[in-house]
Amino acid sequence: MPKYDRNFTDELRERLSIVDIVGRRVPLVKKGQNYWGCCPFHNEKTPSFSVNEDKGFYHCFGCGEHGDIISFVMKSENVDFKTAITELASQAGLKMPDYKPKPAAQIAREESYYQIMSDAANIYQKLLFDTSGAHALEYVHRRGFTDDMIKKYRIGYAPKNNIIANKFINVKQDNLLATGMCRRGDYGMYDFFRDKLMFPIFNARGQIVAFSGRSLDGSEPKYINTTDTELFHKRRTIFGFNFARDAIHRANRSIVVEGQIDAIQMQCNGFPETVAPLGTALTDDHIAMLCKANRNIVFCFDGDTAGQKAAARACDIVMPFIRDASDIRFAFVTGGKDPDEVLKTSGVDAMRKIIDDATPLVDFLWHIANAGFNVSTPGGRTQAEKFIKQKTDKIIDVHLRTEYEQEYKQRIFNNWHKWKKQSQNIPRVDIPTVDDITKNTVIFIVNKYPEIAERYGDFLATLNINFDENVPELNMDEKSSEKFIVSLKLQKWLETLHIQRKNLMSKLLAGENVRDKINDLDEKINIAKQKIDMLIPE
Ligand code: UTP
Ligand code: MN
Repeated sequence: MPKYDRNFTDELRERLSIVDIVGRRVPLVKKGQNYWGCCPFHNEKTPSFSVNEDKGFYHCFGCGEHGDIISFVMKSENVDFKTAITELASQAGLKMPDYKPKPAAQIAREESYYQIMSDAANIYQKLLFDTSGAHALEYVHRRGFTDDMIKKYRIGYAPKNNIIANKFINVKQDNLLATGMCRRGDYGMYDFFRDKLMFPIFNARGQIVAFSGRSLDGSEPKYINTTDTELFHKRRTIFGFNFARDAIHRANRSIVVEGQIDAIQMQCNGFPETVAPLGTALTDDHIAMLCKANRNIVFCFDGDTAGQKAAARACDIVMPFIRDASDIRFAFVTGGKDPDEVLKTSGVDAMRKIIDDATPLVDFLWHIANAGFNVSTPGGRTQAEKFIKQKTDKIIDVHLRTEYEQEYKQRIFNNWHKWKKQSQNIPRVDIPTVDDITKNTVIFIVNKYPEIAERYGDFLATLNINFDENVPELNMDEKSSEKFIVSLKLQKWLETLHIQRKNLMSKLLAGENVRDKINDLDEKINIAKQKIDMLIPE
C-alpha cells in the first residue's frame, strides 16, 4: 500500500462528513449522538450500524465492521486504497498528492503560478492608483469601496494594453498560459484581461488562484473570470471564503449572495460570514465547503427571475446536506436590487431585516412547488407533489425525510384540497352570497393564481362557489387579483358585522343589556370600513 501523507488523509477526514459519505448508500436515522442504519456489510433487518459524525467513525454492532470514510468507500465499493482516496479527494475538492513526493519541477511550477498571480495583483493595484486607472478608481469609489477595502481585497485595474505579457518576459510562457492570464495569438502573447476592474479570487488559504474582471465601459459580458486552470476550479471555489471562514464559525452560519461585489460589501458592513459563488452557478462542492463549518445557510439572492432560479437551484443542491439541526433559509432582496444596493440605499438594518425575515427551507420548497405548477388542477397538483417528493427524497437522514414528507402531506391536504372540499360540503344557509360577476372573477382568480387561492382558501371555501366552472378570461394581474379577494373578504366581513349588529339591536329593544357589545361591533365596523377605503381609493 502506498504511503500517503498523514496530513492528506486527515485533511480528507476533516473536509468530508462521514454521514454524507455513508448516507449516500445507507439510509440513516439520527438517534441520540449517532446516526443509525442497516449495515451494508452484512444482512440485517434492524439497524445495528452506527455512524458518529464528530468522531468520523462507523461501527456495526452486528458484525463488528468499523472504520472511517476511507475504509467505508474501500469496502462498500470494493476498491483499493488509492481509488478510494482519489474519489474522496475529488469530493473534497482536493488535489491528489502523488505517490512520491511531488517532483521538484511541479512544485516549482505551482510556486511560479502563485507568484504570477500575486505579482499580477500587485501590478493591477498599482495601476488602479495610477493615471491610467483613474476611471476605474473613480468607479470603485462610486460603488462604495474605501481604499482600505481596495487594499484588503487587492482590487486593481487591468489596463488596455498587454501589461502581463509585457512585464512577465522573464517568466516561462507556458506558465503564463497555464495561469490563464495570457493567451497566445498570431502576434504573440496577449493579456486575457484588458481594461477591467480586477477582483482577485482567493483559495481557502488566501492565495490568489484567479481573477474576475468587471467591464468598465458597459460592454458585455459584465464579468469575465479566469477559466479553469490547475490552480482554479470554478465549481470548487467560493468567493470570499478565505475572509469569511472564521466569521462563519463565529456567527454559526454563512450567507450566500450572488455577486462578488455583494459579498465584499456584505463582509464589510456587518455580515462578515458572507460568500458568493462565481457566477450564479452554485455547486454541491460549494455547499460541502460551507457545511464543514456548520449547516446553517442563508441564501440571499436578487429579487429578479435569475435570483429566483438560483434560489430554486440552491434548494435542490442543499437537500442532501440538511440535518435535523440545520437552519437553511432563503432571503430575497426586492425591487430589482441586490444586497449591495440595499446596503447603500437602505442601510445595514434594512439588510439585517431581510436576512432575519428569510423563509425557511421547508416553506421555500412549498412556495416553489406552488408557483411552478398549476395546483388548481389535479394534473398540476400531481406534478407539484412529484416535484416535492423528488426533493425530499434527497434528504439523507430517513427520520428527517419522513418528517418533511408528513409536513407536506398536511399542507397538501390543508391547502390544495380543503377549500375545494369545503366548498362542496358547506350548506347554503348563513353564507354570504355573491353576484355573478363577482363569482366569475373569483373563479378566474382561483384558477389563474393558485397561491392566492391557497392563501385565502378558508375564506374562499365559505363562498360556496363551484371553482371548476368555466369562466371568461379576465385581464387581472396577481396584485390586483389579490386586492380583489381581500376587499371581497372585507366586504363579507362587514356584511356579517352588520347582521350581528342587527341581531344585537333587537336584543337591546327587548331590554337586554348589550350596549358594550354593540360598541365593540361598531369599532370593528369602523376598522373594516377603513381597511376597505385603503384598498379601494375613491
Ligand atoms: P449580476 O449580474 O447580478 O452582477 O451577476 P452584480 O454582482 O450585480 O454586478 P454589479 O453589481 O453590476 O457589478 C452576479 C454574479 O454573476 C457573475 C459575477 O460573479 C457576478 O458577480 N457574472 C455576472 C459573470 O460571471 N458574468 C457576467 O457576465 C455577469
Ligand atoms: Mn450589483
